[in-house]
Amino acid sequence: MKVTLYMAMSLNNMIARENDEEDFISHDSWTAWLTCIRKHGCMIWGRRTHQVVKTWDKQYLEDIKGIKVVIVSSNENYDVGDQFELASSPHKALENVQSQGFSSAVLTGGSILNSSFAKLNLINEVIVCIEPVLIGAGIPLFNPEKFDLNLKLLDVDKVSNRLIELRYEVVKNAK
Ligand SMILES: NC(=O)c1ccc[n+]([C@@H]2O[C@H](COP(=O)([O-])OP(=O)(O)OC[C@H]3O[C@@H](n4cnc5c(N)ncnc54)[C@H](OP(=O)(O)O)[C@@H]3O)[C@@H](O)[C@H]2O)c1
Repeated sequence: MKVTLYMAMSLNNMIARENDEEDFISHDSWTAWLTCIRKHGCMIWGRRTHQVVKTWDKQYLEDIKGIKVVIVSSNENYDVGDQFELASSPHKALENVQSQGFSSAVLTGGSILNSSFAKLNLINEVIVCIEPVLIGAGIPLFNPEKFDLNLKLLDVDKVSNRLIELRYEVVKNAK
């Protein structure tokens, strides 16, 4: 199972403000993210991100209709609603998507879940879409925890005049 981490962030590594607002993430970045998740057909979110998603305008949920979405929470009674599915760990999330015939999945936040996957060495590819903004206080791409991942730069794409997308392979045999 190939896992691609796809995240939009400020130049200084922030994926949201401290109050969960993502007002600095542009429409171009949303469109680039949609292209990625539609290519894979399924994605994985952490429970806190799901709580933010629940507050989204309907049109954004319409955009991801048809995508299989697994929410990870240690609370096996957590209510994910009709559109999404629940898994109790990163491994369970991957078992879920694999059992339904997917050979790849997009991990797409938030910070705590990204680190959970990184610690388990489950990430194969990292794509970040960088917004031209510096956010002094916020939620970082990875929650600070102990892990090292070595990366190989695969691609640098200028998505628009203001946005770049960096794509890396995770080098698995590195310590
Ligand atoms: N810019 C972007 O591309 C982007 C993308 C996604 C999210 N975001 C933002 O990121 C923020 C949320 O990130 P966050 O770091 O606070 O939370 P998060 O990673 O979305 O969710 C954390 C929760 O996921 C569950 N989880 C994580 N690791 C687990 C494990 N190993 N086993 C079982 N459950 C596990 C836990 O849920 P339980 O506590 O229920 O056990 C944990 O509290 C929001 O502001 C959101 O808007 C930004």
